[in-house]
Amino acid sequence: MKVLVKVPATTANLGPGFDALGLALNLWNEAEFTPTGDNRIVVEVNGEGEGKLPTNADNAIAEAALQIFDLAGKPCPGLRISCLNRVPLGSGMGSSSAAMLTGMLGANALLGNPFTEEEILKLAIETEGHPDNVAPAMLGGLVVSIVHENRVFSMKLPARANHGSIHATIVLPDFDFPTKQARAILPRQVERKDAIFNISRAVLVTEALRTGDLELLGIAMKDSLHQPYRLPLIPGAIAALEAGKKAGAAAVALSGAGPSLIAFSSQQDPGIGSSMKRAFESAGLTARIFELGTSYEGAEVTIV
Ligand code: HSE
Repeated sequence: MKVLVKVPATTANLGPGFDALGLALNLWNEAEFTPTGDNRIVVEVNGEGEGKLPTNADNAIAEAALQIFDLAGKPCPGLRISCLNRVPLGSGMGSSSAAMLTGMLGANALLGNPFTEEEILKLAIETEGHPDNVAPAMLGGLVVSIVHENRVFSMKLPARANHGSIHATIVLPDFDFPTKQARAILPRQVERKDAIFNISRAVLVTEALRTGDLELLGIAMKDSLHQPYRLPLIPGAIAALEAGKKAGAAAVALSGAGPSLIAFSSQQDPGIGSSMKRAFESAGLTARIFELGTSYEGAEVTIV
């Protein structure tokens, strides 16, 4: 028996929805789990992270899988995990959440699903710590998450973006900006006017994505809680954000904690990505462009 797990990339925050909103993108990591019976963990990494990520039990997918075997009280028989990674690491496109879910879903399926999807989602959020990436990766589409009395509630919202009518251009500069650092530089307290700025716009972002109103998205996708502190630390990011809008994007925001930026438009327009890339290049960074749709579907598990 083998298990194939596919998990999509995600973009968190969507501007004002800091730590709350996330959207699944149609860029997928795939991993095939084969029980070997030899008590060893071997991970083959192809694509993003190849030659860099651990190929043993220290690999994040393997760690997540072993966590599930432990919680189920079952010994791991030894595994070969063959990964095809398309989501770049440390990019703001949800690669850690994808790894966490991949490992947990793969092990759960091998064990005959002792945990429900809801339990896996809860465990992944508790372990990874960011519901705004984990929840859309699991559920697909546009998802809002809240924490209530130590419990995470995630709800998929209706969105035209879920049906592929909105195009996303992600531009990823070659710049190391770990989420831990990107969070450490944020103020611990915010002013009331900044909270109001974000609350009102976050609601409008969900409405704009529900109706596909890109003009409204452009007005609403602004932020006072994280982007003003993060963008200046990423060389060229402020200029790239402006360049994307000037080239015709309806809205541009930091994708998750960065360093990538995401630009939304009604259809694919190569001018948007290339002008943003040039802005990063002017600041001395190379950058990669990803032309993506959104994904209504979340993580998939197939027994092969
Ligand atoms: N929302 C998080 C942040 C990142 O902006 O720090 C991803 O969950």
